[in-house]
Amino acid sequence: MRKRIATIVCVLHLSISAVTMAAKDVTRPVITVDATGPMRPVSPEMYGIFFEEINHAGDGGLYAELVQNRDMEASAIPEGWRAEGDQVFTPKGWRTRKWFQDDLPGWSFLAEGGAEGSMAIDANHPLNDRNPHSLRLTVTKMGSRCGLVNSGYWGINVQAGEWYDAAFYAKTEGSKGVGLVFSLENEAGDKVCARATIPEIGRGEFGPPQPGAANAPAQWRKYTLGLHANASDPKCRLVITPIEPVTMWLDVVSLFPRKTFKDRPNGMRRDVAQLLADMKPGFLRFPGGCIVEGVTLHNRIRWKDSIGDISQRKGDFDLWGYYNTYGLGYHEYLQLAEDLGAEAMYVVNVGMSCQGRCPEIASGADLQFYVQDTLDALEYALGPATSEWGAKRAANGRPEPFKLKYVEIGNENHGPNYERHYKVFYDAIKAKYPQAITIADTRMPQMPVEIVDDHYYVDPARFFSMANHYDNADRNGPSIYVGEYAVNRGVGTGNLLGALAETVFMLNMERNGDIVLMCSYAPLFENVNQRDWPVNLILMDGSRCVGRSSYQAQKVFASNRPDVVLQTQVQAPEVKLAGIGIVRRLYALAGLDARAGEVIVKVVNPTPSEVPATISLKGLSKLGDKAKVVTLAHANANAENTMDNPNVVVPVESEMRVPAAEFAATFRANSLTVLRLSAAVERR
Ligand code: AHR
Repeated sequence: MRKRIATIVCVLHLSISAVTMAAKDVTRPVITVDATGPMRPVSPEMYGIFFEEINHAGDGGLYAELVQNRDMEASAIPEGWRAEGDQVFTPKGWRTRKWFQDDLPGWSFLAEGGAEGSMAIDANHPLNDRNPHSLRLTVTKMGSRCGLVNSGYWGINVQAGEWYDAAFYAKTEGSKGVGLVFSLENEAGDKVCARATIPEIGRGEFGPPQPGAANAPAQWRKYTLGLHANASDPKCRLVITPIEPVTMWLDVVSLFPRKTFKDRPNGMRRDVAQLLADMKPGFLRFPGGCIVEGVTLHNRIRWKDSIGDISQRKGDFDLWGYYNTYGLGYHEYLQLAEDLGAEAMYVVNVGMSCQGRCPEIASGADLQFYVQDTLDALEYALGPATSEWGAKRAANGRPEPFKLKYVEIGNENHGPNYERHYKVFYDAIKAKYPQAITIADTRMPQMPVEIVDDHYYVDPARFFSMANHYDNADRNGPSIYVGEYAVNRGVGTGNLLGALAETVFMLNMERNGDIVLMCSYAPLFENVNQRDWPVNLILMDGSRCVGRSSYQAQKVFASNRPDVVLQTQVQAPEVKLAGIGIVRRLYALAGLDARAGEVIVKVVNPTPSEVPATISLKGLSKLGDKAKVVTLAHANANAENTMDNPNVVVPVESEMRVPAAEFAATFRANSLTVLRLSAAVERR
């Protein structure tokens, strides 16, 4: 019998046997699960996601737009700010690196075979007051080809067989009619993956120049065209060339893959959004983060500038160091939450800009402006199509209200100003939307606080030391949402050890599911071409995306979330982990998935050696004799998934026999293991 089991061990990396074989080993960890003891609920929304425009998470990431700086506004410095050298200063003197190198980031002028002409940003021919800059292209000598190149966000991913939809606004000098060629070509320019021509722009219904102004441009007009790819290249560029000399203006030049997540127009990249869907998120927190606060109050996320036709949106400098088009806006977030089957959680500016940067505090009538802004946002999401903002939602294609369950009042705000503002926002929100569940940034014993948002960015040692953090949390205080957490110190750009430390902390949150209702890792995304934050959950470039080990751990937890946790005792000796400190050899938690009729045991072994242990299940009947096993492990704690090696640390499924209610199992070095076996709670 023992011999046979030893064979299984080799295959499954998880051994089982009659427990008696190791009964005398006092250092052997014992995990005792007692279903006769009190149980605590775990919210179905426990594991969610937090999206913020950081590391090009949206523009150049999740948001499927392929053209960089489509609105020609990426070099616009906000009103009142000033640039000096490579720095930009806000009116109050907060400074940042100038986020653009030239007037038209993403765009360059193309002149081949003796062509002559120029390209320039132009503030004299605004498309509308929200898009004051356009691109003027002048071609004086055709040569072999002359026009514009857009680099996309570090290249445009083009796949053979797929369609790409371009849309743009243009006008020509003197209403001259001219054909335009759009092509998607590789970087070297020697492979054309897709090409399409618009026979004529500029002339037509918007007609002749004004009398007495022979060279005056005609009016702006929108054009669309589809490009079908017959070759693939992940790093194409978009080339736009007129077929004869012309002076023309372009603005809001957009290119989307026809296939987006759930086929939404102005939608999300399918591959990236699918990674989110695979996390089975209970909620989606948006749109930030610090960008909700802004470096000035005007620089906060202005949701009203992020809705409607993309030509009417007014982007802004994103305090993480680049221009945010607002293409992925308030409506899209609400839609995405719905498409992911997640509850929407909207974070609102509370009349305070980022306190860690350069705080501005609104007061009096100004504060009312921010309160009203929030109420309008809620009306946009929840109001009937007959209401002012509900009507705008309907005009944007969504007559019926969205679901918006949670409203977070501020992000990481604190102090007396916050407390005062919080109360004003809380009262206003609850008066009009009593069903909205509010979240506060800090504990305020004198205030009505439903849920408080805790944030942790730590090193591995800290999360190991927080294995019991919420055990004694005040059950009479507010519920807890851990809105941002990650190991982002001492782990380079992320590694398995960091992920395992996070799982130890997650076991603690799950064990205290009666008070810790929700949690979300942060930040969610990193475009590997621009990292603004040291460690992020999902890495991507224009054509690929990969979940780090922490992503895999998140997925394993969300897919194995119990409805209730069972009393779980772990007797495990402590060991010293090099470079970290003292950890336990095993951490564990068991729970019940009532619908599946299964007991779920999650076990973390953060040590570099395998750990044989005993599991004892009490108070459970109808125990299955087999367990499904999911193991996330690697022999090297520094292992990590990368763009080129995405499957270094991924969950592996197997099966093991469970001979009795007490059984032996060996947990791999550096591992998270989940055992699921059918079980019912014995009648009490
Ligand atoms: O997740 C990155 C940042 O960390 C968030 O913007 C902010 O809330 C926190 O400080």
